[in-house]
Amino acid sequence: MAARNLGLGLGLRNVHFEHILNEWPQVEWFEAISENFMDSGGRPRYVLRQVAERYPVVLHGVSLSIGSTDPLNFIYLARLKALAAEVRPAWVSDHLCWTGVLARNSHDLLPMPLTEESLAHVAARVIQVQDFLERPLVLENPSTYLAFTQSTIPEPDFLRELVARTGCGLLLDVNNVYVTCFNTDADPRAYLQSFPTESVVQMHLAGHQHCGTHIIDTHDRPVLPDVWELFRLAWQLTGGVSTLLEWDGNIPAFGECHAEILKARNYIGQHFVPASIEDLPARDAVSNPVDFLVPQVMRDTRWEQA
Ligand SMILES: [Fe+2]
Repeated sequence: MAARNLGLGLGLRNVHFEHILNEWPQVEWFEAISENFMDSGGRPRYVLRQVAERYPVVLHGVSLSIGSTDPLNFIYLARLKALAAEVRPAWVSDHLCWTGVLARNSHDLLPMPLTEESLAHVAARVIQVQDFLERPLVLENPSTYLAFTQSTIPEPDFLRELVARTGCGLLLDVNNVYVTCFNTDADPRAYLQSFPTESVVQMHLAGHQHCGTHIIDTHDRPVLPDVWELFRLAWQLTGGVSTLLEWDGNIPAFGECHAEILKARNYIGQHFVPASIEDLPARDAVSNPVDFLVPQVMRDTRWEQA
């Protein structure tokens, strides 16, 4: 399974709306937080539509709660499906986590016990979601601060089996790997070596806060050097996939965010193969030159935009 490599992208944040609408910067793609746009018919939705006409866009959710014991929220899914129909994202992603129970939203990405029982539970729900959305789902490894004593399956193996049972894709958050492994006393490079990298559609990078005894996934600063080095390995193992910078707190000017993600070029090395504009999929006018796409030999048509 492979999806188009969109290049190096940025999260679409409202503090940058004016800059983007005025300048149409040469960013290769944007990721929009689904919940920030799905309930709004106002300016955010207008901006996203404008952006989606000019750049590849991906929808990234934080409320699917795929791991919860609550029933799936089909009102939420219907709104997500409608948003996807409107902006035609390259794919739709969320997290391997639960965000609430008994209809209460914790607004946090809570970790799951990784067991055969939870695997069967999540796999069944992923299939339901994919059937409803009529597209494959992409799931991200979360940042965790503890590990359940009940867990019997390492997270990379859990995700590999989830892919095998559902055909979903994976979003590999390299910063989350670093945070989780530090907090649970694991080796992040060993984690990556055992990750089902052949199923990775996208990667995330972000900054975190190191508190000595633990790390908090704050997304409020530049990517840390150790995470960049981990990204170098992740790029090699995946063969290179769409990579995006998440910056959600103390967000600097657009140019600073853009410069931060472009640092990724220093870690990509020989595995980066630039593609020509002809490799772009057919879509509406693209005003920005996109020179960072990698042609995919093994394109899976399920990932094509609707
Ligand atoms: Fe992430």
